[in-house]
Amino acid sequence: MSAVRVLLLSGSERQGSFNKKLAAVAAEAARRAGAEVTPLDLRALALPLYDGDLEKASGVPAAARTLRDALLASDAVLLATPEYNGFPPPLVINSFDWLSRLPAEDAKPTGLGATAGKPVGILAASPGLLGGLRSLNFTRQYVSMAFAMLPVPQQFALARANEAFDEHGALKDAKQQAAVENVVTALLRVAGALKAA
Ligand SMILES: Cc1cc2nc3c(=O)[nH]c(=O)nc-3n(C[C@H](O)[C@H](O)[C@H](O)COP(=O)(O)O)c2cc1C
Repeated sequence: MSAVRVLLLSGSERQGSFNKKLAAVAAEAARRAGAEVTPLDLRALALPLYDGDLEKASGVPAAARTLRDALLASDAVLLATPEYNGFPPPLVINSFDWLSRLPAEDAKPTGLGATAGKPVGILAASPGLLGGLRSLNFTRQYVSMAFAMLPVPQQFALARANEAFDEHGALKDAKQQAAVENVVTALLRVAGALKAA
């Protein structure tokens, strides 16, 4: 069987983002386990804030199709995302909201069709003591309830993320590294089984 293809998303693309660093750690673990990992920069899609008038006037922005194509080309998704006031941040919600507006076209499914049944591993990082844990259940609910994705039960919230990485971007704590690998292993197992089915 060919390698499991993983789409890597970060809910923050700011310079020095802890979630981007955590995503990179997860990506490395996935590659070591034999997966093919492709990152997609959600910020670079430059999607405007969702607005029904804008959609009526100009349709869904073309960049939403980039996200759909990336999803269609993947067997699984790894999402590391910050928590903003207990919720996933606008970059994630807005990107997926636009995706959900895409109709079926050019022999491609709707935006929602591109996510349906796709396994996803969810991570969060924060300098705070809970590491974004409060948002993980909302992220889980959002992607499963609205997008029919399959979040694996394993998840990890990296607390005190500002102290967690060494100068090479590796996690200093072996237990935290193992927790990330636990999510990745579960994701690849599910995605591999679905791919083989
Ligand atoms: C609007 C806003 C709300 C935030 N709310 C939370 C929060 O609810 N919980 C938390 O742990 N951190 C919160 N933070 C702090 C973020 O965890 C912190 O900025 C983190 O570095 C963002 O992730 P990044 O490093 O990947 O960009 C908030 C930050 C912002 C800008």
